Amino acid sequence: MPFARQKWDTNSDVLECASILILFRGKIGIMATFLRPLSYKYQWLYDTISKLAALPVGGEKKFRQLALRHLNINKDTKILDLCCGAGQTTKFLVQYSDNVIGLDISPHAIEKAKKNVTQAKYVVAAAQKIPFADGEFDLVHTSVALHEMTTVELEEVFQEVYRVLKPGGLFTFIDLHKPHNPLFLPGIMTFMWLFETETAWQLLETDLPAKLTATGFTDVEKQLFAGGSLQVIRARKPV
Ligand SMILES: C[S@@+](CC[C@H](N)C(=O)[O-])C[C@H]1O[C@@H](n2cnc3c(N)ncnc32)[C@H](O)[C@@H]1O
Repeated sequence: MPFARQKWDTNSDVLECASILILFRGKIGIMATFLRPLSYKYQWLYDTISKLAALPVGGEKKFRQLALRHLNINKDTKILDLCCGAGQTTKFLVQYSDNVIGLDISPHAIEKAKKNVTQAKYVVAAAQKIPFADGEFDLVHTSVALHEMTTVELEEVFQEVYRVLKPGGLFTFIDLHKPHNPLFLPGIMTFMWLFETETAWQLLETDLPAKLTATGFTDVEKQLFAGGSLQVIRARKPV
């Protein structure tokens, strides 16, 4: 029989194309466009992008609290907002607790956070070298920042988070993920090409739960949202 016409298996074929694109993108190493520095310079631009990105999960308020749902947080819960930026998520954390500290490597971001969210305390530092003692925090939360780290940095950050958490403390984060729903591919691909660097493309290929388990965390839970383009992970430091 001559060649039968191949059936287009939409999901797997589109995802395969996405994987090839991601690999190709990884090899040629093109940097993000001029929009990336602009988005950090102009907060209105960063905030507009965040609002658009949050639409598939029901808006920014929901997006910022996705990883915090059903957690037992009270006013005394000591929280570290790791890589807090200009306080975009700190703003929500201070509604739960009176004990929130924001950390970011960028003095410019911390200056903005101090103005935007006055209820928190702040420190300029690298997430790979958190300037707090062992076992200080009940909760360390990171919102859309791990995709800015190299693989080695990620491992260092996970070790530092583990160190500063109290036994039984929780590490929660939300970040990018390779979508399983092809409808979300054009959006995330465009966003990545315009705004993200190599590390974000690498994160899409990284098994974060495996890295957390290797660090010593237990009860590692991963949930996907927005067609799989966002991952929320929670992990516990054993008691
Ligand atoms: C995309 S922004 C996220 C800001 C905020 N958490 C949010 O939810 O919008 C990433 C932030 O991570 C910070 N960052 C990147 N690498 C870091 C590192 N190694 N240590 C501390 N902060 C870092 C950047 O300065 C930036 O403010």
